[in-house]
Amino acid sequence: MYPDVVRDERFGKITAEDIEYFRSVLAPGSVLTAAEEDLSGYNIDSMRKYHGQSQLVLKPRSTEEVSLIMKRCHARKLAVVPQGGNTGLVGGSVPVFDEIVISMSLMSKVRSFDEVSGILVADAGCVLESTDQYLAERGYIFPLDLGAKGSCHIGGNVATNAGGLRLLRYGSLHGTVLGIEAVMPDGTIFDSLGKLRKDNTGYDIKQLFIGSEGTLGVITGISIFCPRRSKVVNVAFFGLESYEKVQQAFVKAKGELSEILSAFEFMDTASQEQVARFSELRRPLDEAHNFYVLVETSGSNRVHDEEKLQTYLEGLMESDIIADGVLAQDETQVKNLWTWREGIPESLGKSGGVYKYDVSIPLDELYQLVEDTRVRIQEFGHDIGTEGSNVVNVVGYGHLGDGNLHLNVAVKQYDKQIEYILEPWVYEWIEKRHGSVSAEHGLGFAKKPYLKYSKDQRVIELMRQVKKVYDPNGIMNPYKYI
Ligand code: FAD
Ligand code: MLT
Ligand code: ZN
Repeated sequence: MYPDVVRDERFGKITAEDIEYFRSVLAPGSVLTAAEEDLSGYNIDSMRKYHGQSQLVLKPRSTEEVSLIMKRCHARKLAVVPQGGNTGLVGGSVPVFDEIVISMSLMSKVRSFDEVSGILVADAGCVLESTDQYLAERGYIFPLDLGAKGSCHIGGNVATNAGGLRLLRYGSLHGTVLGIEAVMPDGTIFDSLGKLRKDNTGYDIKQLFIGSEGTLGVITGISIFCPRRSKVVNVAFFGLESYEKVQQAFVKAKGELSEILSAFEFMDTASQEQVARFSELRRPLDEAHNFYVLVETSGSNRVHDEEKLQTYLEGLMESDIIADGVLAQDETQVKNLWTWREGIPESLGKSGGVYKYDVSIPLDELYQLVEDTRVRIQEFGHDIGTEGSNVVNVVGYGHLGDGNLHLNVAVKQYDKQIEYILEPWVYEWIEKRHGSVSAEHGLGFAKKPYLKYSKDQRVIELMRQVKKVYDPNGIMNPYKYI
């Protein structure tokens, strides 16, 4: 599974004494060993592409317990992988060899919520969807939403600096996360769980943990600024014939929907056919189109918001930007329309395997990558979507409002030949456009070799130095990231 890496023999191997120690400091049921349990759920990632061989999973219930774990790991040079909901898409959340998995799933309590400021302080292991539900009951919203919300943890979201479906509206976690509590590799507790929106007292060290993917420490708690939940949410779904028109619709959305615009997602026809293959739902539009856009507005005045969205859609029709469109009439329809966007990753996964590219590219060239990829695959003699071919589909979709394309190549089975056709070609393509090889999923194991296509050598060197300062023994999520 990991042909080009060898176990770093500087790391200790788990002994019976280590297990005895962990059992003595953790609550019953918190120490899972391969000898007694099936640990495959912790060793295999959500794409079933990466398989680790961890023999030990620890499930701490408090920051103090994480600290005791890390003190032992530091003293014994035992490598660890912090794990949230294990929904990551770059092979970062599972071990490569025998690293200990520190699962955060039992640290799942809301610590406090201030209904005046909207500031939530919660354990890292809170599941995103239940945290958002907690906030919904109080009239607030978690400022991040993504398809894996039912499983991913808010700590995992911060560790990956997840972007998701409404970054356009609520901004990046670098802006909304106000504080972080983490356990450092030597077991000391980094307590920066501030609740201040403004704090200009020196280097903002907590920012380094946002997007650090378990390489600097174990995030145990976060404090985050949550906006009021919008009373009125509207969704429109429309078909367009060219990528040029998708961009025109976006410019108009920014101008005309402005403060109520909360998502602008685009999907190509291949991605919609993929969802349709596995969905019982009726397709939102009768005719097929080359592209589709889902626009969401969130506001507080129904009449005002609906009028704005209606006028926007009529304007698009009149200027021939869209060919057809539909407006959700109730909450069920809102949910169903979102399925045609959120359901894409799952439907692709049903093919067998998926080569996933999550990239930032200047908007005008964003879709060109998908077209060039199809041409390249065919030039190398592979059909797309025919019965005998391993390549099932090549699709493009993503967060257009953020300049973030998801290019996915679905295959019946992972195949090195296909991988060599795609990599590093995709990354070279991105480098030429000064884009990013990872817009939101992170580096993990998958993107580590390709960091150089997006970051200058000097910057990479600084990243290495930071890693050494925080984690001198290199025990935090090794073989990945940098
Ligand atoms: P995991 O997968 O468990 O871990 C991810 C990384 O974070 C690993 O490196 C791990 O070591 C580290 N980590 C986890 N918890 C901690 C912790 N407490 N302390 C330190 N390090 C930690 N991502 C997006 O950005 N936008 C999307 O729209 C999006 N949609 C998705 C849709 C689907 C269907 C799926 C399967 C995934 C999607 N993802 C998306 C990717 C993934 O869900 C996110 O990266 C998510 O933030 C990972 O959270 P997790 O709790 O599952 O973390
Ligand atoms: C998405 O936007 O759906 C996610 O980032 C997940 C994915 O692309 O697989
Ligand atoms: Zn995404």
